[in-house]
Amino acid sequence: MATPDSLVVSLPTAADTYRLGRDRLAPLLEPGDLIIASGPLGVGKTALVQGIGAGLQVDGPVLSPTFVIARVHRGGRIPLVHVDAYRLDSIREIDDLDLDSDLAQSVTAVEWGQGLVEHLTDGHLLIELSLQPGNQAGAGSEPRTATLTAGGPGWHRRLSAIMEL
Ligand SMILES: Nc1ncnc2c1ncn2[C@@H]1O[C@H](COP(=O)(O)OP(=O)(O)OP(=O)(O)O)[C@@H](O)[C@H]1O
Ligand SMILES: [Mg+2]
Repeated sequence: MATPDSLVVSLPTAADTYRLGRDRLAPLLEPGDLIIASGPLGVGKTALVQGIGAGLQVDGPVLSPTFVIARVHRGGRIPLVHVDAYRLDSIREIDDLDLDSDLAQSVTAVEWGQGLVEHLTDGHLLIELSLQPGNQAGAGSEPRTATLTAGGPGWHRRLSAIMEL
């Protein structure tokens, strides 16, 4: 079977976004994985990472890391490093965070990381969240869409598995 490059998932409510992380992504995650969550302000990036944290059963709470750029959550199947790159705008600032030290043993999930963190690993999963067409008026309770794009062969294989869940 051909392995897909990307997968589109409809997320009618915040609970669906959370469950995508908890039930479909977290079980497939392995140490060294990098997840990049992108999309506009308030679209649900943190909600997705909270679901991943719940699925990995890490110590919480996974919060919107407003003033803290990176937080490590341990106690679960794999440690979760949650990064908010919103106020970072250069690869140098990312490298200064020294994420490398935890990367190999952890799952690293980066909000606003597109274009900044891809160099850290051989492969990554990009999750682009958007408001569904016709619902662009404001990021309230409107349905979202997630587009999952495999960055590397390992993720092509795992996207097939996600499709079957
Ligand atoms: N389908 C949906 N998926 C995710 N969140 C939704 C959805 N519908 C409504 N929401 C609401 O949108 C908000 C998303 O907030 P969240 O902090 O997860 O977004 P974010 O993308 O991380 O924001 P920021 O850009 O500030 O980091 C929450 O209040 C959540 O309840
Ligand atoms: Mg957030």
